[in-house]
Amino acid sequence: MTILAIETSCDETSAAVVREGRVLANAVSSQIKLHAEYGGVVPELAAREHLRNLIPVVQTALHEAGATAEQLDAVAATQGPGLPMALLVGFKAAQAIAFTLRKPFVGINHHEAHLYSPWISGNPPTADFSDFKPNLSLIVSGGHTMLVLVESELQHRVLGSTVDDAAGECFDKTGKLMGLAYPAGPDIDRLAEQGNPKAFDFPRPMLNDAGDDFSFSGLKTSVRYFLRDHPALLDDAQKIRDLCASVQAAIVEVLVTKSVRAAKRNRVRCVTASGGVTCNRALRSELARACNHEGFLLRLADKSFCTDNAAMVGVLAENKLRHGVADTSLDAEILPGMALA
Ligand code: KG4
Ligand code: ZN
Repeated sequence: MTILAIETSCDETSAAVVREGRVLANAVSSQIKLHAEYGGVVPELAAREHLRNLIPVVQTALHEAGATAEQLDAVAATQGPGLPMALLVGFKAAQAIAFTLRKPFVGINHHEAHLYSPWISGNPPTADFSDFKPNLSLIVSGGHTMLVLVESELQHRVLGSTVDDAAGECFDKTGKLMGLAYPAGPDIDRLAEQGNPKAFDFPRPMLNDAGDDFSFSGLKTSVRYFLRDHPALLDDAQKIRDLCASVQAAIVEVLVTKSVRAAKRNRVRCVTASGGVTCNRALRSELARACNHEGFLLRLADKSFCTDNAAMVGVLAENKLRHGVADTSLDAEILPGMALA
């Protein structure tokens, strides 16, 4: 089975070709530079940029995969959640392609696609579910922070999510307070490497809360007040590195502790993580340390599949078709608030 998948839920225009679990191509056009000027994603600009880039990105993916449109067996696209106008561009284009080729169409939940991205690995990247284990999955990006129990393939239950800001948003907003460009996550990661994570003590929100929800806006506020009271700190490069390391340590400790605790409580011995923040090196190494300590298997999405991409959409669509899940109507509409069932 050969699938063309399209992802346009936020600020990445992506198209992938997946065949029998193998990612033959995963073309991604990032809009980061466009939105950086505004300090965050501007929905109207994102939609316009998707419109401009979608067809070239699809052509690139088909070309890289050495596939023709006629060889496609199905077409998939992200149906939600995401920015309405951005979703609309990719979803309607995918339906039109499926209609023209008279092939099945599959609408995919963006979060559900993230859940299975840690199972894509190797060269060429291949989704391998033969060693699938029930797992606790952490989805952590600029828009979402969730803990999901994945009991078996295509069966999952959301345990908790953020009640305010996402973890990536916290990286981006605290970075902005320090004068770093959007998105600040990668810069904080880099600067933190030479900083002291114990230099400043920031709160670990909801760390000791019995539930699986997160909250990151209080941490951001405490950094804001801290900088209001210590403005001179931003004139000292080493102090900025210490600040980055301290903020990062607070975010990472909450994510790691709550993930491992939820895995234990739900009696699963495997943890997976995906989403843009999973690129963070401290998060990757602390998850590895904690899982090693518990004797858990850890599967982190490859960095190229952490940020939004169509490969994970194609992999999930193929898995669904293989499991006999019905395809999606060509009249179906986008679902910007689509929940992870
Ligand atoms: O998954 P993604 O590309 O887009 C969505 O938000 O859906 O994630 C982007 C987020 C941004 O908040 C960015 O700052 C964060 O991921 N991020 C990182 C790192 N790389 C990306 N945060 C911390 N450390 C990183 N290395
Ligand atoms: Zn995402």
